[in-house]
Amino acid sequence: MKFVTSLALLATAAVVSASPVQKIFNLVTSGASDDSNNGLYLSTEHEDPLNSKAVFREKTDAADFYFTNGTVRYDAPNGAPYAIALIPGENQQGDVEISVSPTTGSRGFRLTSEKQLKTSNKDFGGWLVCDGDDDLQGLFYENSSAGNDVPEGCDAVQLDVIYKTSS
Ligand SMILES: *[C@@H]1O[C@H](CO)[C@@H](O)[C@H](O)[C@H]1NC(C)=O
Ligand SMILES: *[C@@H]1O[C@H](CO)[C@@H](O)[C@H](O)[C@H]1NC(C)=O
Repeated sequence: MKFVTSLALLATAAVVSASPVQKIFNLVTSGASDDSNNGLYLSTEHEDPLNSKAVFREKTDAADFYFTNGTVRYDAPNGAPYAIALIPGENQQGDVEISVSPTTGSRGFRLTSEKQLKTSNKDFGGWLVCDGDDDLQGLFYENSSAGNDVPEGCDAVQLDVIYKTSS
C-alpha cells in the first residue's frame, strides 16, 4: 500500500517538472559591507504607466521573477508583463528599471553556479544598493566603463536567486 502511494507521488512530480511552468524566484541582496543592506527583496515602485523603479521592499512585497530567453520578467498583480532593464547612461551608477514591455527588458541575464544574477553586458561591473529619493532603497548597477569606485550612498551587493517553493 505504501509502495503504491509513493509511486503515484513520483508520477505527479514528474508531470510537474516536465510542464513549461516557469520557475519563480525572488531576488535578494547579499555580500553588502553594511549588513542592513543584506537580505533586501527586489520589488517595484510605480513611476509612470510604462515603467517602474527597481526598489527593495519587505519579503511579503517582493516581486516574483522568472527567466525567459535571457530576460528577467515579472507579472504584475493586474497581469501586465514587466522585464528588468539596465538603463544605459554615462554614469558610473546606472539606473535599473522594470519596464512594462518584456521586449524592452535587457537581454543577457544569466545565473552563476552560485545562483547569483549576472548579465553579460560588457559595461556591467556589479549590482549596487543606493539611497533613493524617498525612504526606499533602489537597485542600480555599476558601469565599469565609467569608473570602478562604488559611488557615495551605494553599497556593492550580489543578487541571489531564491526559488519559491510551490507549497
Ligand atoms: C530569444 O532571443 C534571441 C536572440 O536575441 C531571439 O532571436 C529570439 O527570437 C528569442 N526568442 C524568444 C522566444 O523570445
Ligand atoms: C557606460 O558608460 C559609457 C560611457 O562612460 C557609455 O557609453 C555606456 O553606454 C554605458 N553603459 C551602460 C550599460 O550604461
